[in-house]
Amino acid sequence: MSVADSSSPGVDNQLFDLKVPVLGICYGMQAMAKALGGKVESIGIREFGHATVRARGHSRLLSEISDKTNDRGHGLLDVWMSHGDLVTELPNDFNTICSTENCPIAGIGNDERLLYGLQFHPEVTHTKKGLQIIKRFVHEICDVSTNWTMKNYVKEVIQNIKTKVGSDAVLLGLSGGVDSSVAASLLHKAIGKQLICIFVDHGMLRKDEAKNVMKEISGKLGVNVCKIDASNEFLEGLNGVTDPEEKRKIIGKLFVDVFQREAKKIPNIKWLAQGTIYPDVIESADSNNKKAVKIKSHHNVGGLPESLHLKLLEPLRELFKDEVRSLGKTLGLDSEIINRHPFPGPGLAVRILGSIQREYIQILQKADYIYTEKLKKTYITKVDFDNELCEEDQVGKSWYEATSQAFVVFLPVKSVGVMGDSRTYEWTVVLRSVITSDFMSASWSRLPYRLIEEVSNQIINEVPGINRVVYDVSSKPPSTIEWE
Ligand code: XMP
Repeated sequence: MSVADSSSPGVDNQLFDLKVPVLGICYGMQAMAKALGGKVESIGIREFGHATVRARGHSRLLSEISDKTNDRGHGLLDVWMSHGDLVTELPNDFNTICSTENCPIAGIGNDERLLYGLQFHPEVTHTKKGLQIIKRFVHEICDVSTNWTMKNYVKEVIQNIKTKVGSDAVLLGLSGGVDSSVAASLLHKAIGKQLICIFVDHGMLRKDEAKNVMKEISGKLGVNVCKIDASNEFLEGLNGVTDPEEKRKIIGKLFVDVFQREAKKIPNIKWLAQGTIYPDVIESADSNNKKAVKIKSHHNVGGLPESLHLKLLEPLRELFKDEVRSLGKTLGLDSEIINRHPFPGPGLAVRILGSIQREYIQILQKADYIYTEKLKKTYITKVDFDNELCEEDQVGKSWYEATSQAFVVFLPVKSVGVMGDSRTYEWTVVLRSVITSDFMSASWSRLPYRLIEEVSNQIINEVPGINRVVYDVSSKPPSTIEWE
């Protein structure tokens, strides 16, 4: 929307008489400027992406915060812009606190009234000093102290769960991923054996995954987990199916059927717990507003039907992924589980192109294990610096930690090779690795050649059926992270 358009939402002027600090971001700055008597215009110039902003006039919001200085000593900030409209006249008693070449008023401020606006986005990671700017606003300008701790939060949430649930039994669909594992351990701390988890093994999990989930969640934490081996059912349902969407639909439906069937066997369940986290809440709010990002719509395989007639419990609803990880750590979950890369609900089914065969699953599990183990055991060195996607503070981390998602894809394509004295005619696998913060866009990881080479050798030597390994150098968009 455009603030310059008279039908667009505006800000109630009384907000600015409350004598509380206000920071308007992007549209927020424009709405604020307009409400206070400034002017906003659409002048046909769009700024989208990276921009360099020059701070001006030593405002309380930006003073002493910069990424670099120009040759005249002015502080410069690397920021992310995304706008088509401009504030072209300041409201009364406001100063310009920063500008770019295309956007002479890129930030506005009134230090006395503690009202500020920024045209760029301090909340995105591409704005390098964004967090520092937000901290300046929250801690110094709003005078808010940091007294939120995960320990206190855990206490509070556990108490809330106890009060809400009373003596009822709660059902949770456990996938072994970070969110459902953290939800399980939190609920277990709160209500112990009243929590019953159903873990559906659809036969397309990673190597030893089902065993490890049971060992960690049921064995170590003592959570009540009912593991259902439904692999035959899923493989039969997928028999001969090659279309990716069709495969996803079959898996989604079977998952719900199996879960529902097993849930009915458990008496007295009143609640269904889900590992929904805050980004999921934002996405579903969007879909209520018909602004859903289509590409994600097929992802909610775990979305269970209302026909279960259970009350919904979502203990992680207010947390972002990094907070879920930190909660898991506070609850004593193993770091293997907490720091896992995401794994799609349909599992290896979307990483085996075309129809699924047991043989392909076994090959893929072995190759994937070799690849991820190598990433976990290879540490980033100073030599990796020419790697444009590798930041200096990542030296010493493993490549698994430094990448957002890495896995192997099985291609049902045979090619000719030679091993020893013999000709081979075998399958191909693809190594995929991406770096992303939101999974909506992603760059392929610039892994060191030596690492790729070692993984390729090990896979070809140790996994029968594979004689060729390739590396995926496509980013999202235009590709997607998964191959199907
Ligand atoms: P794409 O392939 O769309 O993937 O670029 C983006 C992220 O979503 C994950 N993904 C899924 N997660 N159920 C899930 O729970 C799914 O059906 C699904 N499909 C993709 C993918 O692994 C990546 O992290």
